[in-house]
Amino acid sequence: MVSRNLSIPWTEKYRPRRVSEVIGNEEAKKQFEAWIRGWERGSPEAKAALLAGPPGTGKTSLVLAYASEHGYEVVELNASDERSSERLKTIVGESARQSTLSGTRKRIIMLDEVDGIAGREAVGGVATISSIIKSTKTPIVMIANDPWDPRLAPLRENALMIKFNKLKQREILAHLKKIIASEGVSVDEKLLAEIVRRAEGDMRSAINDVQILCSTAGVDLLGSLELRDRKKTAFEVLSEIFGATSAVAGRNAVQGADMEVGDIMIWVGDNILNQIHSPQAIADAFKLLADADLHYSRVRRLQRWELLRYVSPLLGAGPGVMKQVYGEKGERFEFPSTFRFFQQTRHQRTLVQSVLERVASRCKMSRVKVANEMLPFLAEMFRRGERGLASYFGLTDEEVRAVIELAGAQPSAAAPQAQAPAHKRRTTPSRQTRGVRRPPSP
Ligand SMILES: Nc1ncnc2c1ncn2[C@@H]1O[C@H](COP(=O)(O)OP(=O)(O)OP(=O)(O)O)[C@@H](O)[C@H]1O
Ligand SMILES: [Mg+2]
Repeated sequence: MVSRNLSIPWTEKYRPRRVSEVIGNEEAKKQFEAWIRGWERGSPEAKAALLAGPPGTGKTSLVLAYASEHGYEVVELNASDERSSERLKTIVGESARQSTLSGTRKRIIMLDEVDGIAGREAVGGVATISSIIKSTKTPIVMIANDPWDPRLAPLRENALMIKFNKLKQREILAHLKKIIASEGVSVDEKLLAEIVRRAEGDMRSAINDVQILCSTAGVDLLGSLELRDRKKTAFEVLSEIFGATSAVAGRNAVQGADMEVGDIMIWVGDNILNQIHSPQAIADAFKLLADADLHYSRVRRLQRWELLRYVSPLLGAGPGVMKQVYGEKGERFEFPSTFRFFQQTRHQRTLVQSVLERVASRCKMSRVKVANEMLPFLAEMFRRGERGLASYFGLTDEEVRAVIELAGAQPSAAAPQAQAPAHKRRTTPSRQTRGVRRPPSP
């Protein structure tokens, strides 16, 4: 297969331009249109809408499509960004003044990743936003994967909730077939079905997988799909560990994870304080972690890997059970600050940050989302020698190398063993984790 027209991520190339092109979630689309029409008539049902649902289902796309179809300017704000509530205030104020003038552009304010504010500055941000909502003269669309955090209640109460569901397999399949046809490539039906199945209702990830498949000339396609086999992300593993209601469940979570035990320890350690708050529970959790660490270093020193089975219970059984016992509700999971991903040289970190920023602004995603959902895809493409995408995002060779190097970290796009010795493989979350709230910025 010759590589064709790979200079744009297909997710962007085929992003719906019109509302009618947004696939599925018909009810949500109707509700959204009715809501915004209410604004157009001057009597909105609610000042804000809250689009809630899993990743890659068309939430952002719907807003953008409606706006471009109806001549709105979209002011994009990322709620995870701490300055957003200030900016929101300014923009709402500005628009209120302007709306008294005739002929100004129609605006929609899109406040994406609202679930990102739950953990951090929490109440302050939420309170500011909900009071802005009450007074706004510009439609505000909030977007969240997981809007159910109790701290977000004021936002839910002041907004019309519009729920998105995972896309249906047949919807994804039909869309992929269209894309494939217009790219003039052919993909084996079985592979396609497999991609659809693995996407779990996430169109973005399905499209990314297909683009990767189509990028390789003469490569064993099944093999490359194998490479993309979904492994649990670090966030999923964390959520299982901290969510374990029994010691056995915790141990199983550790044993079932496709991460190095050392990495799991770092992730767990760096998230204990987000998840557990009572001093005694924190002390207990760290004690267990320290014991796990001790055993683990012994296992490594003696090369007695069979003893690993004594590490997993210590590591897995603590946090979730502790949380349960003390009845604690966790905050968002964070990327570990100590994690090797961010421990690289300052230079490399800067490179990656700037890559994240550019991809984020092009793909209308936050940097964290890009790190999770687009970086593994880009790394895989770059690894396959596709440089078109680099020029699309304006990346230098050095940045491309940094992305490839970094993505040795991605379980879902991991290089074959031969290229990446185990000690070099790192595990970072590779895609959106459903139901797990996300850190605001790396
Ligand atoms: N319903 C859909 N119809 C057509 N394409 C879609 C749909 N949903 C997602 N896509 C494709 O996936 C890409 C990402 O979608 P979008 O940004 O709208 O997802 P999202 O629901 O906002 O996800 P997230 O919660 O991760 O921000 C789009 O550019 C588009 O190519
Ligand atoms: Mg989005």
